[in-house]
Amino acid sequence: MADHPFDAIRLEELRARKSAKWAYYDADVLPAWVAEMDYPLAEPISRALHDAIDRHDAGYAFAGGLGEAFATWAHETWQWQVAPRDVHLVADVVTGITELLRVATEPGDAVVIDPPVYPPFASTVRATGRTLLEAPLVRSGAGFAMDLDAVKAAYEKGARVHVLCSPHNPAGFVLDRDTLVALGDLAERYGVLVLSDEIHAPLTLPGAVHTPLPMASEAAASRAIVLTSASKSWNLAGLKAATMVGCGEEPRRVLARLPVETPFHAGHMGVIGACAAFREGGAWLAQTIAILDRNRHLLTDLLAAHLPGARYVPPQASYLAWIDLRELGLGDDPAAAMLEHGRVALSPGPSFGAGGAGYARLNIATTRALLEEAVARMAAGARAAKARSPARHPFG
Ligand SMILES: Cc1ncc(COP(=O)(O)O)c(C=O)c1O
Repeated sequence: MADHPFDAIRLEELRARKSAKWAYYDADVLPAWVAEMDYPLAEPISRALHDAIDRHDAGYAFAGGLGEAFATWAHETWQWQVAPRDVHLVADVVTGITELLRVATEPGDAVVIDPPVYPPFASTVRATGRTLLEAPLVRSGAGFAMDLDAVKAAYEKGARVHVLCSPHNPAGFVLDRDTLVALGDLAERYGVLVLSDEIHAPLTLPGAVHTPLPMASEAAASRAIVLTSASKSWNLAGLKAATMVGCGEEPRRVLARLPVETPFHAGHMGVIGACAAFREGGAWLAQTIAILDRNRHLLTDLLAAHLPGARYVPPQASYLAWIDLRELGLGDDPAAAMLEHGRVALSPGPSFGAGGAGYARLNIATTRALLEEAVARMAAGARAAKARSPARHPFG
């Protein structure tokens, strides 16, 4: 598999970063956990941020051209017609989910999630005093899929909101249009508002097609608010600017109930970065998709060579590999054993909720050399952990 210009990034440069991915663990740990990428910022974004500093422009965020920039980009990318006035600024996607739950539901109302899923979904529902209803994913072939029967059952129990992850983190699948149409029909029939977290959608990889939920059908559009951001796909998570888009009557009514100060909690640099990303970040995004596509297949080869007990289906979007390590015999949390004995930090499977035991999530948005190093450390960690664990059957 060919080299990519981003493969030239050196470990020392990354270790100089002060963001959570690189600063959280001791320097002997290779971090492959939180969803940050190791790639350089897109040049148009870097230039826009430097220009802002040069003009001493560090005041409060103003959504300004963000609606227009997002709408133009969404139309070019997905042929999704969005009116700029339907694009609302919020600090980040998780804050958007929290604020929307507050205005769309009452304490105690039921909210559906599809575990194993991005951990803040469950913690946000709990923190807002709402009741969690789970519609766990089902195994489909070697991977996972949404269980529409479980979703229907949860809606029948009186769910008010469904927090959907599309594309799915950590399972890595892109929801097909038929599933989204069925979901929209269910949401309409049971009066459920779907908060569709599409933060990973701009990084949909070759072979898959992402459909923004409101594009699936009129029913879906009438029940959906899409939460998205340039932060994951252009690696701007610390700058704090995300968008919430609602095109139907009810979604617009919910968005209109948000506190007026909501957009002011966003970051000014985040808005500047997001506008540059949507307007001029296409070439960089294509370059990033190329290395992620390479890495997801490289990981298949690396696991086969070094950790043959691992089971993995390459993600259809983004850069998070959901790896089934149950055969390795490292218990519910193989990431803990790999951190302790291999000095590599993955995200623990159990933190993603039901269905996560025995799994770990590996961030593959790195160079070839560091991906090879991560798998080598996982394998060494697994071996060392096994060697240290007491034999379960001394006579067997
Ligand atoms: C599915 C999903 N939603 C939201 C986020 C976090 O987004 P934000 O920083 O905008 O809250 C992440 C981060 O990894 C994610 O994977």
